[in-house]
Amino acid sequence: MARSAIMNVMVQAALKGGRSLTRDFGEVQNLQVSLKGPGDYVSQADKKAENIIFNELQRARPDYSFLMEESGTIAGSDDQHRFIIDPLDGTTNFLHGIPIFAVSIALERQGQIVAGVIYNPALDELYTAERGSGVFLNDRRLRVAGRRKLEDCVIATGIPHLGRGKHGQYLVELRNVMGEVAGIRRMGAAALDLASVAAGRFDAFWESDLQPWDMAAGLLMVREAGGFVSDMSGGQDIFASKSVVAGNEFIHPALLQTLKKPV
Ligand code: IPD
Ligand code: CA
Ligand code: CA
Repeated sequence: MARSAIMNVMVQAALKGGRSLTRDFGEVQNLQVSLKGPGDYVSQADKKAENIIFNELQRARPDYSFLMEESGTIAGSDDQHRFIIDPLDGTTNFLHGIPIFAVSIALERQGQIVAGVIYNPALDELYTAERGSGVFLNDRRLRVAGRRKLEDCVIATGIPHLGRGKHGQYLVELRNVMGEVAGIRRMGAAALDLASVAAGRFDAFWESDLQPWDMAAGLLMVREAGGFVSDMSGGQDIFASKSVVAGNEFIHPALLQTLKKPV
């Protein structure tokens, strides 16, 4: 698997950010028993990882623009290229000592995502994708799962919670899907949910109320694995609508239709 120069830079940044998260995750596990809990410590770990990733990328591409979850937008002199970064996807898992979290880095060129890296340090799983060159988990090329019937499928989702999302609408979606499928999973890291669709572990994924940094790298991965992605209404306004549905050519349309079944 030959990687481009920029992909090598993105991989190094993700690995370095991931190593920093791993060190802090050890301490988070100790802090669970303390009265104050690990809240402040985790937000420091999150920012520290973002700084590490930003410094690595900016050193290699000083002109590029950035969109980062913690630091927001940094406009570079080159507005045709933008890195989209989530330094810690799965913060709630991290905070609770659950080892399901990831670094996500995407590169957008003229509004199109052309490269993506998602790294899960707890499992040492590195997903990489370049537009037109496929998607890999470590050295293995990925394909979406081949299942054709919802009844055989395991579907991932994100469940709204206190202060987030439209609870009533989600309950309708869940009711529609749960009666049609073999299982539903809520892993708590949208970037890994999308990467897991690319890897064929999940047959599909849907969630609303997501941000570009949750989705950018993973969207490219699903496409490069031969899958389909759309917003909740089947269109391509994924960032603007903040919603995503992903799956193979059979399950993506079937899930879209099921989600929208009237009450
Ligand atoms: C969150 C995770 C989670 C999803 C949330 C996201 P964060 O990102 O991806 O799975 O359900 O909506 O905000 O906050 O852990 O970076
Ligand atoms: Ca996130
Ligand atoms: Ca985050």
